[in-house]
Amino acid sequence: MKRIKLWDKEFEISIPYTDIQLAVKQMAEKMKNDLEGKETLFICILNGAFMFASELMKELDLNDAEISFMKLASYTGTSSTGTVKELIGLNEVITGRTVVILEDIVDTGHTIKGVIEQVIYNGAADVKIATLLFKPEALKVDLKLDYVGIVIPNDFIVGFGLDYDRRGRNFKDIYTLVKV
Ligand code: IMP
Ligand code: MG
Repeated sequence: MKRIKLWDKEFEISIPYTDIQLAVKQMAEKMKNDLEGKETLFICILNGAFMFASELMKELDLNDAEISFMKLASYTGTSSTGTVKELIGLNEVITGRTVVILEDIVDTGHTIKGVIEQVIYNGAADVKIATLLFKPEALKVDLKLDYVGIVIPNDFIVGFGLDYDRRGRNFKDIYTLVKV
């Protein structure tokens, strides 16, 4: 099994890129049916969702889609702090629009809940959530996820955009923390 070391911790490959690609393709197919002709605004949640958003956008060929970014942070080390800091906000007018939020992973759900509230507050007509990864065992809020790529156990992972203290985002496969 391929391993990587980031800072003090070791991680073992758990989801190869080919599985990620397949999951994203399936999400894209479902989205195309739902969103055709809707002038959708996709909001990629930085930093973690950048690879997912890029992969998904290449699979979706919607003529009237737009993409924008929000930057949020809630994690320190390997656990969620529960407070979500907004580092870059939304500039787009979203009143009356169909918005799809693109997230790397839903863990406790606090981050995505905060984003949904803000998007609704700003007048979006319809808000959908697309997350590449979902840890159902960690979920602490009431949430409806419209598009889920891969359901995973409650372990800490890195790669394909996800980091451990700023490192590991660059890997195309996903790795799970090796418990010692
Ligand atoms: P939540 O607010 O607890 O749902 O956490 C969501 C955010 O925490 C995600 O957008 C990720 O950036 C980060 N996160 C959650 N789980 C992991 C993980 O296993 N590895 C790396 N980052 C994670
Ligand atoms: Mg994130």
